[in-house]
Amino acid sequence: MTLAPAPQARHKDAMTERLTLRRPDDWHLHLRDGAMLAAVLPHTARQFARAVVMPNLVPPVTTVAAARAYAARIGAALPGDLRFTPLMTCYLTDGVDPAELERGWSERVFAAAKLYPAHATTNSAHGVTDVARIYPVLETMARLGMPLLVHGEVTDPAVDVFDREAVFIERVLAPLLRAVPGLKVVFEHVTTADAVAFVRATPEHLGATITAHHLVINRNALFQGGLRPHAYCLPVAKRERHRLALRQAAVSGDPRFFLGTDSAPHAARDKEAACGCAGIFSAPAALETYAAVFDQEGALDRFEAFTSRHGPAFYGLPVNSETVTLVREAWTVPETIPAAGGHLVPFHAGERLAWRLAEA
Ligand code: NCD
Ligand code: ZN
Repeated sequence: MTLAPAPQARHKDAMTERLTLRRPDDWHLHLRDGAMLAAVLPHTARQFARAVVMPNLVPPVTTVAAARAYAARIGAALPGDLRFTPLMTCYLTDGVDPAELERGWSERVFAAAKLYPAHATTNSAHGVTDVARIYPVLETMARLGMPLLVHGEVTDPAVDVFDREAVFIERVLAPLLRAVPGLKVVFEHVTTADAVAFVRATPEHLGATITAHHLVINRNALFQGGLRPHAYCLPVAKRERHRLALRQAAVSGDPRFFLGTDSAPHAARDKEAACGCAGIFSAPAALETYAAVFDQEGALDRFEAFTSRHGPAFYGLPVNSETVTLVREAWTVPETIPAAGGHLVPFHAGERLAWRLAEA
């Protein structure tokens, strides 16, 4: 990675003006399907070389054939000038067939499998009702070295929404790691100091993704001057002290933490509703948002490790050979983005950002 100060300012504290780094990957992404896929894919593909594509379609992606077909639709939706590799995932259900998982893994269709606790979030009705039921499947995955990606929230209605991640650690994740030692697990989109501490205290085979938006907003954003549906996602943003713990983890250089946007587009009409959908569409300015965070934390020297190195190392994949360049040049994120006959409201809509991705 190169950090270049402005040419006229060569002294030690000169501000970095250009950042050239290995092309990053997004280790947690929702691309949807059909017209929505076509609208959102270019935003990701201009920044990221690869992305772990979440399988929560309707119906969910539970078979090798469905994942292959979805990968082909993603390929067909990709504009010709962009290069992008989707890393497909299998949606785990109570009835998941370990032989199907193993076949998908050995044929290099599945890069990982995703565990949604039943009813935890968007399109998770087919999720797993009791993780202990699928321990035999998880043992197969441990043998293969296939990563398990977890949406880490309990769904027990008696548990406060803001505590669901912390309670998941003690009720589900810790017992799971003890029951299936050696299983590679990614604790997806961590939102709490509890999750950060748990990852730090656990051996190397537990990693975690951190979204751009959870590094920027705390739960106040949901209620700023009124109810703000575009700040609503799952896991929901937490208190300020949790956001600060996430920022520390992201910029720490600890290889267990890596970039995963959880960019999750929903038409504005579905979010601005009596029962609005969960999901923040961060893809249009994802890398720029992360860069601003690392800049504010004085950690631009650790940016590339978080965006482009820790994820491939965890998944056992090569680092990308191409590079991207970010420049310190203010721009304004669009208020809306047309999509599928409606529009999307991106994260940071209408706001100015300090960093911009230079077009290749
Ligand atoms: C995701 C979605 O909309 O698919 N929503 C979200 O708020 N993150 C589902 C998920 O990852 O929980
Ligand atoms: Zn997600």
